[in-house]
Amino acid sequence: MPLTITWYGHSAFGLESDGNMVLIDPFLSGNPVHKTDPATVDPNTIILTHAHNDHVGDTVDIARRTGATVIATVELANFIAGQGVNNVVGGNHGGTASFDGGSTKFTPAWHTSSYSQGDMVVAPGVPSGHIVRFGGKTLYFAGDTALFLDMQLIGDEGPDVAVLPIGDHFTMGPKDAARAARMLRAGTVIPCHYNTFPPIEQDPLAFKAEVEKETSSMVLVLAPGVSAEL
Ligand code: NI
Ligand code: MN
Repeated sequence: MPLTITWYGHSAFGLESDGNMVLIDPFLSGNPVHKTDPATVDPNTIILTHAHNDHVGDTVDIARRTGATVIATVELANFIAGQGVNNVVGGNHGGTASFDGGSTKFTPAWHTSSYSQGDMVVAPGVPSGHIVRFGGKTLYFAGDTALFLDMQLIGDEGPDVAVLPIGDHFTMGPKDAARAARMLRAGTVIPCHYNTFPPIEQDPLAFKAEVEKETSSMVLVLAPGVSAEL
C-alpha cells in the first residue's frame, strides 16, 4: 500500500494512504520558518504527543472544521474536547487506539507537557511517543523526549521508520538521537524538531552522516513542505 509522508516543519507530519490522512502534532500557522495554511489539510485523525503549543498548534481549528478525531493522552484529549472538539480518544502509555486505516500505541517520552493560553498555563497530562501502524508500515514518532534505554523495546516492534527530534536544548540532540537510532533499528530515520527556533539549530546532514556510518538505517532529510513515498 503506498504511504506518503509530508513534513510541515518542526514535529508536524502528515501521513496519507488509501484515502485516509493522519496529522501528527500540527503546528502549522505558528511555525516561524515554514507556514502551512491549516485550512489546506483534511485529516480524519490527529495524533498529539503532548500539550506544548509547538505541538498542539492548529489542532482545535482543524478538528472543528474537519471533524477529525484527536488522539492524545487522556488529560490532553479531555482538554482538547473542552475547546469544542467533538471527537477525541484519550489513551495512555502501553495502550493502543485504533483510527481510520490504522492504530497507534502510546509509548513513554521523557519530557513535560503544558499549554499556554494568554496568561494561563495548564498542564494536561504527560507526554507520549506513538508507534503508528498505517499504510502497511510501522512508524515510531518519538515526540519530544530525551534518550531512554526502553527505546530498545520499541526497536523490538520492528519500526520501518523512526521520526526523532535532533534539536537538543528541549529534546535529545543529534548525538543522543544517533544512539536512539542504534536501539530502534528502523530502516529509515527522519530527523525533526530542529532549525525552528534559535536554541535548536542543527545540521541534519551531519546527523545523517553519523547515523549512516554507525547504523544500518538510512536517514531521510526532508525539507519543510515536502512529501516522500515510504
Ligand atoms: Ni515539547
Ligand atoms: Mn517541542
